[in-house]
Formats: sequence, structure tokens, C-alpha cells
Amino acid sequence: MPSGDPPGQRTSGDVTTWSVVTGNIDSASTSPDARPSSPRSLVSGQPVVTMIGGGQLARMTHQAAIALGQTLRVLSGGPDEPAAQVSPDVVLGSHTDLDALRRAAEGSHALTFDHEHVPTEHLDILVAEGVNVQPPPQALIYAQDKLEMRHKLRALGAPVPAFAEVTWAEDVAKFGNEHGWPVVIKAVRGGYDGRGVWIVDDADEAEPIVAKQLDAGATLMVEQKVEMRRELSAMVARSPFGQGATWPVVETVQRNGQCAVVLAPAPDLSDELAAEAEGLALRIASELGVVGSMAVELFETVEGALVVNELAMRPHNSGHWTMDGARTSQFEQHLRAVLDYPLGDTSATAPVTVMGNVLGAPEAPQMSMDERVHHLMARMPDAKIHLYGKGERKDRKIGHVNIVGGPGSIDDAEYVAAVRERAERAAHWLSHAEWTDGWDEHGE
Ligand SMILES: Nc1ncnc2c1ncn2[C@@H]1O[C@H](COP(=O)(O)OP(=O)(O)O)[C@@H](O)[C@H]1O
Ligand SMILES: [Mg+2]
Repeated sequence: MPSGDPPGQRTSGDVTTWSVVTGNIDSASTSPDARPSSPRSLVSGQPVVTMIGGGQLARMTHQAAIALGQTLRVLSGGPDEPAAQVSPDVVLGSHTDLDALRRAAEGSHALTFDHEHVPTEHLDILVAEGVNVQPPPQALIYAQDKLEMRHKLRALGAPVPAFAEVTWAEDVAKFGNEHGWPVVIKAVRGGYDGRGVWIVDDADEAEPIVAKQLDAGATLMVEQKVEMRRELSAMVARSPFGQGATWPVVETVQRNGQCAVVLAPAPDLSDELAAEAEGLALRIASELGVVGSMAVELFETVEGALVVNELAMRPHNSGHWTMDGARTSQFEQHLRAVLDYPLGDTSATAPVTVMGNVLGAPEAPQMSMDERVHHLMARMPDAKIHLYGKGERKDRKIGHVNIVGGPGSIDDAEYVAAVRERAERAAHWLSHAEWTDGWDEHGE
């Protein structure tokens, strides 16, 4: 570190880097003056960013936009969606309707996404019309289409499981016989939270799933079921200038194919594997030309190697902990990146932060959410509550809770377990109105 720099900060050329921020990650970068001028700005003169989709990711990006003096314009399917409830600049319409996309893009400095489902041909038209689409469609395609992603990552030399396209049930049988059972069948597009993923033990189990999905018009693929120790996520951000930043690699815990808990950083992860995961994510961001926050979902195999699962080119559930546990949240960083601002410091502010998803109970509890919030606040003053304004439905992501650990060490398993238990207890309380440790909130 050159003398005179603040602690943890390094300067090389004209790029400032933080301890967990890499500087210019590209061999060739674009000019920092490439930001397009907008035909229309807010009264404040601050940029307008349009986000396609009115879900919780847009809602939380809007929170970050407020702090930066911006408002986030959202294209929302309805006025009740999480982001539409809070943004004063809402365009109502469908993300598959080109005219709605055009209206949402008008006058904005950058157009970005809360989900992957905008048709690529629409995005190509917007780009041709001068809209600053970030991440650009030629990068976004690898987050939209799992088969394209597998081909591309394999070509880049990134570790991926064996895979094949499925055009009839026989393709799965052939793949399973060649690579071993069980195998994983996936919808190539449109899946989320484990919807669109089927683990099958044999050809007989695969046959009806494949028939039903192909009949419904889905494109399918099959891949090896990875024998894993656990799932990790490497989150990074990249700007058009080519600056890259990585947050600490986290462990994600899924239940029924859906993220339930995130431990940041991943406990018991060697420095070598952490560096490998961060380097891999930065390389993918650079090679694909990603702009914005990106999650690289990873499997840590039982042998201790990394395999890429999938890419998300937007803020991601595995980065929600950054709202309370990192100097720069993934939402602020996404805005900084798509606007080609310098990126923010990604360091963690505590030895561990644990995020628990509030997943809707099978039946919404009698007790109102407001009362549940009161009780949680009374019992856990340190719990950071984030609710998305969504109705309660079974397994639906309606919020999350972050617990930022106090003094301690990530290498202390008891300390980590205690923080995790609090996060899971808080999240379960909010969804079920039940304390997992049997506490009676009205008791003596
Ligand atoms: N090849 C695989 N081997 C083992 N488990 C897998 C595999 N692919 C997916 N899974 C499991 O299914 C979950 C969801 O799969 P993913 O492709 O990430 O779909 P989604 O788009 O729904 O997140 C993963 O987080 C993981 O738990
Ligand atoms: Mg996934």
C-alpha cells in the first residue's frame, strides 16, 4: 500500500481500490466520459435510473436511490407491487410490451432490471434507439438462458457440471446413463426459487416431467447433480469503466430449492477458495461485459472444488446482508455501477452478518404483521427488519431480517451459530408468529 493512503485503501494509476475491491478488471476499458447525457432530468439534476420490474429488488434499490438524491423509476405490472408502492415515478405496464419499455426508458440515464425476463429482442431495439441498457443485452442473455450460460462458461474455462440440451425424454435417459443418476432437469428460461428445477432418480421419473414441460412450450436442459458440501455465492459489481468490486463470499442455505439463510462471510472457507471464487466472479463479469451487481451462485463440491451454478445480473438475495453488514450495499453499488460512478467500499462491518428470509407460512398467522413486528422489536432490538409490502402466501419471500454480529470471530463456530439462530428465529417469528425456542411473548 503506498504511504499516505487511508487504511485499507490502495491507489493504482487513476483507479482507487479497497481491500476487497479490485481496480480496473478489464484489459481494455471504455472512457469514463462515456456516460450519455439525458434529455430529461429530475428537478434536482440527479440522474434518473429506470428499473424493469416492481418487485422487492426494485423497492430496495429505490431506498438506495433516495440516499443518492435520485428516484428510481420502475416499470411495474401493477400499482400494488413492492416498488410501485413506494416510488413516485411508476410506469404501469408489462416487461414484455415494447411500448411500455419505451415509455419507462424515456429520458432515463440507465435502464436496468429487477428480474431477467425481458425479451432480448426488445432490449436490442431499445439499445438501437439509444437507451443505455445495463447490463447490456449481450451480457444479460447469460443470466436469462441457463443453456447459453453453460455453453459460454464452459468456453471460458469456468468450472460447470456436465450438461446437455433436452428435446425429448430420451435425451435425459441417455445423459443419465452416461453420467450417472440422479440428474437435474432445468427449464432453460424463466425459473426462480427452485421452480423450474427437478432432480430425478431415473428415466421413469424424468419422462412425465419432460413431456409436460415440453408440451407447455418450455426449453429444457439436463445436468449432473453435483455432490456438494454446500452452496456459496460470490457477489461482485462491475462498471462500464471496468472497475470491479467483490463482497466477501457468502454461504447460502436453500430449503426446497429456495434460499432461506445467508451467512456472510461463508464460515470455514479457506482463503484460497475465497480468492478463487472472487477471482472467478470478477473474470466472468469482465469477460461477459456485465454492468451492475452480479451474483455467481456456486457449489462447493465434497472434494472442495468450485462449480458455477448460475448467474444473476442484478441485486440478489445472497446480497441482502449488505444492507446492514457492509459499507456499501448491493443496491447502492448497482446504481453506482449502471451510472458509471466509482464503486463503493464493499468491506463487511462485522465478523459475521446472517440474513434470514421471511418466507410465508402455509397459512398466514392470526396475529397481524404489525403486532409481530412489535414483538420482534421488543425481543431483539438489534434485528434489522426489511419487509417488502407483499401479501402472505406459503413460501413467498415477503421480507428478510439481518442480524449483524457483535464482537467475535468467523472462526468461532459457536459465535456464528448464535448469530444464525437469532436471524432464523426472527425470520420465522415474522412469518409464523411462533418462536422457535418456545418463548411466550405474553408470558411472565
Ligand atoms: N446441478 C445441480 N446439482 C445439485 N443441486 C442443484 C443443481 N442445480 C440446482 N440445484 C439445486 O437447486 C437450486 C435451484 O437451482 P437454480 O438453477 O439455482 O434455479 P433457480 O433459478 O430456481 O434459482 C440450487 O440452489 C441447488 O440447491
Ligand atoms: Mg439459483
